[in-house]
Amino acid sequence: AANRFLVEGSSNLWRADCRAKGGSPGFKVAILGASGGIGQPLAMLMKMNPLVSVLHLYDVVNTPGVTADISHMDTSAVVRGFVGQNQLEDALTGMDLVIIPAGVPRKPGMTRDDLFNINAGIVKTLCEGIAKCCPKAIVNLISNPVNSTVPIAAEVFKKAGTYDPKRLLGVTMLDVVRANTFVAEVLGLDPREVDVPVVGGHAGVTILPLLSQVKPACSFTQEETEYLTSRIQNGGTEVVEAKAGAGSATLSMAYAAVKFADACLRGLRGDAGVVECAFVSSQVTELPFFASRVRLGRNGVEEIYPLGPLNEYERVGLEKAKKELAGSIEKGVSFVRK
Ligand code: NAD
Ligand code: LMR
Repeated sequence: AANRFLVEGSSNLWRADCRAKGGSPGFKVAILGASGGIGQPLAMLMKMNPLVSVLHLYDVVNTPGVTADISHMDTSAVVRGFVGQNQLEDALTGMDLVIIPAGVPRKPGMTRDDLFNINAGIVKTLCEGIAKCCPKAIVNLISNPVNSTVPIAAEVFKKAGTYDPKRLLGVTMLDVVRANTFVAEVLGLDPREVDVPVVGGHAGVTILPLLSQVKPACSFTQEETEYLTSRIQNGGTEVVEAKAGAGSATLSMAYAAVKFADACLRGLRGDAGVVECAFVSSQVTELPFFASRVRLGRNGVEEIYPLGPLNEYERVGLEKAKKELAGSIEKGVSFVRK
Protein backbone atom coordinates (compact mmCIF):
# COMPACT_ATOMS: atom_id res chain seq x y z
CA ALA A 1 0.00 0.00 0.00
CA ALA A 2 1.22 3.43 -0.91
CA ASN A 3 0.90 5.09 2.46
CA ARG A 4 2.52 2.53 4.71
CA PHE A 5 6.07 3.26 5.64
CA LEU A 6 8.60 0.50 5.27
CA VAL A 7 11.77 0.19 7.24
CA GLU A 8 13.41 -2.56 5.23
CA GLY A 9 15.29 -1.93 1.99
CA SER A 10 13.06 -2.97 -0.92
CA SER A 11 15.14 -6.00 -1.96
CA ASN A 12 15.30 -7.25 1.61
CA LEU A 13 11.59 -6.80 1.89
CA TRP A 14 11.07 -8.77 -1.30
CA ARG A 15 13.21 -11.63 0.05
CA ALA A 16 11.47 -11.54 3.39
CA ASP A 17 8.05 -11.61 1.74
CA CYS A 18 9.12 -14.68 -0.28
CA ARG A 19 10.31 -16.31 2.93
CA ALA A 20 7.04 -15.47 4.62
CA LYS A 21 5.10 -17.10 1.79
CA GLY A 22 7.29 -20.22 1.91
CA GLY A 23 6.53 -23.62 3.38
CA SER A 24 6.46 -22.77 7.08
CA PRO A 25 3.03 -22.13 8.64
CA GLY A 26 3.60 -18.45 9.29
CA PHE A 27 0.75 -16.28 10.48
CA LYS A 28 0.16 -12.57 9.97
CA VAL A 29 -0.26 -10.73 13.24
CA ALA A 30 -1.14 -7.09 13.94
CA ILE A 31 -0.61 -5.29 17.24
CA LEU A 32 -2.82 -2.20 17.74
CA GLY A 33 -1.30 0.09 20.36
CA ALA A 34 2.16 -1.21 19.51
CA SER A 35 4.10 1.82 20.84
CA GLY A 36 2.74 1.55 24.37
CA GLY A 37 4.00 0.06 27.60
CA ILE A 38 2.54 -3.34 26.68
CA GLY A 39 2.79 -2.88 22.92
CA GLN A 40 6.58 -2.54 22.73
CA PRO A 41 7.65 -5.63 24.68
CA LEU A 42 4.74 -7.52 23.09
CA ALA A 43 6.01 -6.56 19.63
CA MET A 44 9.51 -7.70 20.60
CA LEU A 45 8.29 -11.05 21.89
CA MET A 46 6.05 -11.63 18.86
CA LYS A 47 9.04 -10.92 16.58
CA MET A 48 10.73 -13.84 18.37
CA ASN A 49 7.80 -16.20 17.74
CA PRO A 50 8.57 -18.64 14.91
CA LEU A 51 4.83 -18.99 14.11
CA VAL A 52 4.72 -15.34 13.01
CA SER A 53 5.70 -14.55 9.41
CA VAL A 54 4.46 -10.96 9.22
CA LEU A 55 4.13 -8.53 12.12
CA HIS A 56 2.22 -5.25 11.67
CA LEU A 57 2.75 -2.59 14.33
CA TYR A 58 0.03 0.07 14.50
CA ASP A 59 -0.36 3.01 16.85
CA VAL A 60 -1.35 6.66 16.69
CA VAL A 61 2.23 7.68 17.62
CA ASN A 62 5.84 6.44 17.53
CA THR A 63 5.51 3.30 15.43
CA PRO A 64 8.26 4.36 12.96
CA GLY A 65 10.85 4.18 15.75
CA VAL A 66 9.52 1.01 17.35
CA THR A 67 9.34 -0.68 13.94
CA ALA A 68 12.85 0.36 12.90
CA ASP A 69 14.19 -0.94 16.20
CA ILE A 70 12.37 -4.30 16.22
CA SER A 71 12.97 -4.95 12.52
CA HIS A 72 16.73 -5.34 13.23
CA MET A 73 16.14 -8.48 15.30
CA ASP A 74 17.51 -11.46 13.35
CA THR A 75 14.34 -13.53 13.45
CA SER A 76 12.25 -14.39 10.42
CA ALA A 77 9.07 -12.31 10.88
CA VAL A 78 8.79 -9.34 8.53
CA VAL A 79 7.93 -6.19 10.51
CA ARG A 80 5.96 -3.27 9.08
CA GLY A 81 4.91 -0.11 10.88
CA PHE A 82 1.74 1.94 10.49
CA VAL A 83 1.02 5.25 12.19
CA GLY A 84 -2.24 7.18 12.50
CA GLN A 85 -5.82 6.36 11.72
CA ASN A 86 -5.45 6.73 7.95
CA GLN A 87 -3.04 3.75 7.99
CA LEU A 88 -5.27 1.51 10.12
CA GLU A 89 -6.81 -0.29 7.16
CA ASP A 90 -3.41 -1.14 5.65
CA ALA A 91 -2.27 -2.38 9.06
CA LEU A 92 -5.24 -4.75 9.29
CA THR A 93 -5.67 -6.09 5.78
CA GLY A 94 -4.89 -9.81 5.55
CA MET A 95 -4.23 -10.37 9.27
CA ASP A 96 -4.86 -13.78 10.91
CA LEU A 97 -4.57 -12.49 14.48
CA VAL A 98 -5.08 -8.97 15.86
CA ILE A 99 -3.87 -8.18 19.39
CA ILE A 100 -5.24 -4.97 20.95
CA PRO A 101 -3.41 -3.34 23.87
CA ALA A 102 -4.45 0.22 22.76
CA GLY A 103 -5.84 2.56 25.37
CA VAL A 104 -5.06 4.35 28.61
CA PRO A 105 -3.88 2.49 31.73
CA ARG A 106 -4.92 3.04 35.37
CA LYS A 107 -3.31 5.34 37.92
CA PRO A 108 -3.46 4.69 41.69
CA GLY A 109 -7.00 5.08 43.06
CA MET A 110 -8.71 4.25 39.77
CA THR A 111 -10.75 1.17 38.90
CA ARG A 112 -10.54 -0.44 35.47
CA ASP A 113 -14.07 0.84 34.85
CA ASP A 114 -12.74 4.41 35.23
CA LEU A 115 -10.97 3.80 31.88
CA PHE A 116 -14.27 3.08 30.10
CA ASN A 117 -14.94 6.61 28.83
CA ILE A 118 -11.67 6.80 26.88
CA ASN A 119 -11.02 3.16 25.97
CA ALA A 120 -14.54 2.26 24.82
CA GLY A 121 -14.29 4.66 21.88
CA ILE A 122 -10.76 3.51 20.99
CA VAL A 123 -11.81 -0.17 20.96
CA LYS A 124 -14.95 0.64 18.94
CA THR A 125 -12.94 2.42 16.21
CA LEU A 126 -10.31 -0.32 16.01
CA CYS A 127 -12.97 -3.05 15.81
CA GLU A 128 -14.77 -1.19 13.02
CA GLY A 129 -11.47 -1.41 11.12
CA ILE A 130 -11.21 -5.15 11.84
CA ALA A 131 -14.79 -5.75 10.64
CA LYS A 132 -13.92 -4.00 7.40
CA CYS A 133 -10.40 -5.27 6.67
CA CYS A 134 -9.91 -8.67 8.35
CA PRO A 135 -13.32 -9.91 9.54
CA LYS A 136 -12.03 -13.48 9.87
CA ALA A 137 -9.09 -12.61 12.12
CA ILE A 138 -8.88 -13.91 15.67
CA VAL A 139 -9.04 -10.91 18.04
CA ASN A 140 -7.19 -10.86 21.37
CA LEU A 141 -8.54 -7.91 23.35
CA ILE A 142 -6.34 -6.59 26.16
CA SER A 143 -7.62 -2.98 26.57
CA ASN A 144 -9.46 -2.37 29.85
CA PRO A 145 -12.06 -2.69 31.14
CA VAL A 146 -12.00 -6.13 29.42
CA ASN A 147 -15.38 -7.01 30.99
CA SER A 148 -16.90 -4.19 28.89
CA THR A 149 -14.56 -3.88 25.89
CA VAL A 150 -15.23 -7.47 24.75
CA PRO A 151 -19.02 -6.83 24.64
CA ILE A 152 -18.27 -3.56 22.79
CA ALA A 153 -16.25 -5.46 20.17
CA ALA A 154 -19.02 -8.05 19.82
CA GLU A 155 -21.64 -5.35 19.23
CA VAL A 156 -19.45 -3.60 16.64
CA PHE A 157 -18.98 -6.89 14.77
CA LYS A 158 -22.71 -7.68 15.01
CA LYS A 159 -23.55 -4.28 13.52
CA ALA A 160 -21.12 -4.94 10.67
CA GLY A 161 -22.55 -8.44 10.13
CA THR A 162 -19.16 -10.09 10.76
CA TYR A 163 -19.54 -11.34 14.35
CA ASP A 164 -18.13 -14.80 14.98
CA PRO A 165 -18.09 -15.43 18.76
CA LYS A 166 -15.38 -18.06 18.33
CA ARG A 167 -12.94 -15.43 17.11
CA LEU A 168 -13.28 -12.80 19.86
CA LEU A 169 -11.30 -13.44 23.05
CA GLY A 170 -10.74 -11.14 26.03
CA VAL A 171 -7.25 -11.74 27.40
CA THR A 172 -7.36 -12.87 31.06
CA MET A 173 -4.08 -14.76 30.82
CA LEU A 174 -2.32 -12.38 33.23
CA ASP A 175 -4.68 -13.52 35.98
CA VAL A 176 -3.64 -17.13 35.31
CA VAL A 177 0.05 -16.17 35.15
CA ARG A 178 -0.24 -14.38 38.50
CA ALA A 179 -2.25 -17.22 40.03
CA ASN A 180 0.36 -19.78 38.94
CA THR A 181 3.12 -17.61 40.43
CA PHE A 182 1.45 -16.90 43.79
CA VAL A 183 0.18 -20.48 44.25
CA ALA A 184 3.62 -21.91 43.39
CA GLU A 185 5.14 -19.60 46.01
CA VAL A 186 2.78 -20.94 48.70
CA LEU A 187 3.31 -24.58 47.64
CA GLY A 188 7.08 -24.23 47.20
CA LEU A 189 6.88 -25.42 43.57
CA ASP A 190 8.27 -24.24 40.23
CA PRO A 191 5.48 -21.99 38.78
CA ARG A 192 5.85 -23.77 35.44
CA GLU A 193 4.52 -26.94 37.07
CA VAL A 194 1.42 -25.20 38.43
CA ASP A 195 -1.88 -24.69 36.59
CA VAL A 196 -4.60 -22.58 38.22
CA PRO A 197 -7.89 -22.05 36.36
CA VAL A 198 -9.12 -18.46 36.76
CA VAL A 199 -12.69 -17.83 35.62
CA GLY A 200 -15.25 -15.00 35.58
CA GLY A 201 -13.83 -11.75 34.25
CA HIS A 202 -10.90 -9.36 34.56
CA ALA A 203 -11.59 -6.88 37.38
CA GLY A 204 -11.65 -7.19 41.18
CA VAL A 205 -14.16 -9.75 42.44
CA THR A 206 -14.94 -10.91 38.88
CA ILE A 207 -11.46 -12.52 38.87
CA LEU A 208 -12.27 -15.92 40.39
CA PRO A 209 -9.37 -18.34 40.89
CA LEU A 210 -10.55 -21.94 41.30
CA LEU A 211 -8.05 -23.02 43.94
CA SER A 212 -9.90 -26.30 44.47
CA GLN A 213 -8.92 -27.28 40.91
CA VAL A 214 -5.20 -26.46 41.02
CA LYS A 215 -2.89 -28.89 39.30
CA PRO A 216 -0.95 -30.66 40.71
CA ALA A 217 -3.73 -31.61 43.17
CA CYS A 218 -3.22 -29.88 46.52
CA SER A 219 -5.20 -28.34 49.34
CA PHE A 220 -5.08 -24.96 51.07
CA THR A 221 -6.05 -23.79 54.54
CA GLN A 222 -8.86 -21.20 54.73
CA GLU A 223 -6.21 -18.56 55.49
CA GLU A 224 -4.18 -19.55 52.39
CA THR A 225 -7.32 -19.56 50.24
CA GLU A 226 -8.27 -16.06 51.36
CA TYR A 227 -4.73 -14.72 50.96
CA LEU A 228 -4.32 -16.23 47.47
CA THR A 229 -7.76 -15.17 46.22
CA SER A 230 -7.24 -11.61 47.38
CA ARG A 231 -3.67 -11.40 45.99
CA ILE A 232 -4.79 -12.73 42.58
CA GLN A 233 -7.83 -10.41 42.45
CA ASN A 234 -5.69 -7.41 43.38
CA GLY A 235 -2.56 -8.25 41.36
CA GLY A 236 -3.23 -5.43 38.89
CA THR A 237 -3.71 -2.90 41.68
CA GLU A 238 -0.49 -4.12 43.37
CA VAL A 239 1.44 -3.15 40.20
CA VAL A 240 -0.48 0.13 39.67
CA GLU A 241 0.40 1.21 43.23
CA ALA A 242 4.04 0.13 42.93
CA LYS A 243 4.38 2.10 39.68
CA ALA A 244 2.91 5.12 41.53
CA GLY A 245 1.34 6.93 38.58
CA ALA A 246 3.61 5.58 35.83
CA GLY A 247 1.02 3.08 34.56
CA SER A 248 -0.01 -0.51 35.13
CA ALA A 249 1.41 -3.96 34.38
CA THR A 250 3.23 -3.92 31.03
CA LEU A 251 6.05 -6.49 31.11
CA SER A 252 4.16 -9.34 32.79
CA MET A 253 1.21 -8.45 30.54
CA ALA A 254 3.34 -8.63 27.39
CA TYR A 255 4.58 -12.04 28.59
CA ALA A 256 0.99 -13.19 29.23
CA ALA A 257 -0.25 -11.77 25.92
CA VAL A 258 2.42 -13.65 24.00
CA LYS A 259 1.69 -16.86 25.88
CA PHE A 260 -1.97 -16.45 24.93
CA ALA A 261 -1.34 -15.36 21.32
CA ASP A 262 1.00 -18.32 20.84
CA ALA A 263 -1.77 -20.65 22.06
CA CYS A 264 -4.18 -19.06 19.54
CA LEU A 265 -1.63 -19.51 16.73
CA ARG A 266 -0.97 -23.14 17.70
CA GLY A 267 -4.74 -23.67 17.61
CA LEU A 268 -4.95 -22.03 14.17
CA ARG A 269 -2.14 -24.33 12.99
CA GLY A 270 -4.25 -27.32 14.05
CA ASP A 271 -2.39 -28.44 17.18
CA ALA A 272 -4.51 -30.67 19.43
CA GLY A 273 -5.27 -30.00 23.10
CA VAL A 274 -4.53 -26.26 23.28
CA VAL A 275 -6.46 -25.08 26.34
CA GLU A 276 -6.30 -21.67 28.06
CA CYS A 277 -8.61 -19.42 30.07
CA ALA A 278 -10.23 -16.51 28.20
CA PHE A 279 -13.21 -14.14 28.46
CA VAL A 280 -15.53 -15.21 25.66
CA SER A 281 -19.14 -15.44 24.52
CA SER A 282 -20.32 -18.31 26.69
CA GLN A 283 -23.20 -20.41 27.96
CA VAL A 284 -21.31 -21.65 31.00
CA THR A 285 -23.43 -19.28 33.15
CA GLU A 286 -26.57 -17.24 32.39
CA LEU A 287 -24.33 -14.27 31.41
CA PRO A 288 -23.57 -13.69 27.72
CA PHE A 289 -19.80 -13.50 28.37
CA PHE A 290 -17.70 -15.34 30.91
CA ALA A 291 -14.06 -16.35 31.30
CA SER A 292 -13.33 -20.04 31.63
CA ARG A 293 -11.10 -22.71 30.13
CA VAL A 294 -11.49 -22.93 26.36
CA ARG A 295 -9.98 -25.19 23.71
CA LEU A 296 -8.38 -23.26 20.85
CA GLY A 297 -8.38 -24.60 17.30
CA ARG A 298 -8.51 -23.70 13.63
CA ASN A 299 -11.60 -21.51 14.11
CA GLY A 300 -10.61 -19.93 17.41
CA VAL A 301 -12.67 -21.11 20.41
CA GLU A 302 -13.65 -24.69 19.52
CA GLU A 303 -14.97 -25.74 22.91
CA ILE A 304 -15.80 -24.08 26.22
CA TYR A 305 -15.39 -26.23 29.30
CA PRO A 306 -17.84 -26.12 32.20
CA LEU A 307 -16.58 -24.70 35.50
CA GLY A 308 -16.37 -28.11 37.18
CA PRO A 309 -17.09 -28.76 40.85
CA LEU A 310 -16.76 -25.64 43.03
CA ASN A 311 -16.38 -25.55 46.81
CA GLU A 312 -18.55 -23.32 49.01
CA TYR A 313 -16.00 -20.44 49.03
CA GLU A 314 -15.90 -20.50 45.22
CA ARG A 315 -19.71 -20.70 44.91
CA VAL A 316 -20.04 -17.53 47.01
CA GLY A 317 -17.30 -15.89 44.90
CA LEU A 318 -19.08 -16.89 41.70
CA GLU A 319 -22.31 -15.13 42.75
CA LYS A 320 -20.38 -11.92 43.55
CA ALA A 321 -18.50 -12.14 40.26
CA LYS A 322 -21.66 -12.64 38.21
CA LYS A 323 -23.39 -9.66 39.83
CA GLU A 324 -20.58 -7.25 38.93
CA LEU A 325 -19.99 -8.80 35.51
CA ALA A 326 -23.63 -8.40 34.46
CA GLY A 327 -23.40 -4.60 34.89
CA SER A 328 -20.05 -4.31 33.08
CA ILE A 329 -21.29 -6.38 30.14
CA GLU A 330 -24.49 -4.34 29.87
CA LYS A 331 -22.49 -1.10 29.98
CA GLY A 332 -20.41 -2.24 26.99
CA VAL A 333 -23.40 -3.45 24.99
CA SER A 334 -25.40 -0.24 25.48
CA PHE A 335 -22.36 1.93 24.58
CA VAL A 336 -22.60 0.61 21.01
CA ARG A 337 -26.37 0.09 20.78
CA LYS A 338 -27.47 3.56 21.86
P1 NAD B 1 0.14 2.78 27.37
O1 NAD B 1 -0.49 4.10 27.59
O2 NAD B 1 1.56 2.60 27.76
O3 NAD B 1 0.00 2.36 25.85
C1 NAD B 1 -1.20 2.45 25.16
C2 NAD B 1 -0.90 2.72 23.70
O4 NAD B 1 -2.15 2.81 23.02
C3 NAD B 1 -0.15 4.04 23.45
O5 NAD B 1 1.00 3.81 22.67
C4 NAD B 1 -1.16 4.88 22.71
O6 NAD B 1 -0.58 5.76 21.75
C5 NAD B 1 -1.99 3.81 22.04
N1 NAD B 1 -3.29 4.29 21.58
C6 NAD B 1 -4.10 5.21 22.15
N2 NAD B 1 -5.18 5.42 21.36
C7 NAD B 1 -5.04 4.60 20.29
C8 NAD B 1 -5.81 4.38 19.14
N3 NAD B 1 -6.95 5.02 18.91
N4 NAD B 1 -5.35 3.48 18.24
C9 NAD B 1 -4.20 2.81 18.46
N5 NAD B 1 -3.42 3.01 19.52
C10 NAD B 1 -3.84 3.89 20.42
O7 NAD B 1 -0.79 1.70 28.13
P2 NAD B 1 -0.43 0.17 28.45
O8 NAD B 1 0.23 0.09 29.77
O9 NAD B 1 0.24 -0.43 27.27
O10 NAD B 1 -1.92 -0.43 28.62
C11 NAD B 1 -2.79 -0.50 27.53
C12 NAD B 1 -4.15 -1.05 27.96
O11 NAD B 1 -4.05 -2.40 28.38
C13 NAD B 1 -4.79 -0.30 29.12
O12 NAD B 1 -6.17 -0.13 28.88
C14 NAD B 1 -4.58 -1.23 30.30
O13 NAD B 1 -5.54 -1.04 31.32
C15 NAD B 1 -4.74 -2.57 29.61
N6 NAD B 1 -4.18 -3.72 30.34
C16 NAD B 1 -4.89 -4.89 30.30
C17 NAD B 1 -4.40 -6.02 30.93
C18 NAD B 1 -5.15 -7.31 30.88
O14 NAD B 1 -4.83 -8.21 31.66
N7 NAD B 1 -6.10 -7.49 29.99
C19 NAD B 1 -3.17 -5.95 31.61
C20 NAD B 1 -2.46 -4.75 31.62
C21 NAD B 1 -2.99 -3.63 30.98
C1 LMR C 1 -3.80 -5.83 35.25
O1 LMR C 1 -4.49 -6.74 35.72
O2 LMR C 1 -2.61 -5.68 35.56
C2 LMR C 1 -4.40 -4.91 34.22
O3 LMR C 1 -5.77 -5.12 34.08
C3 LMR C 1 -4.06 -3.48 34.45
C4 LMR C 1 -4.74 -2.88 35.66
O4 LMR C 1 -5.30 -1.80 35.52
O5 LMR C 1 -4.69 -3.47 36.73
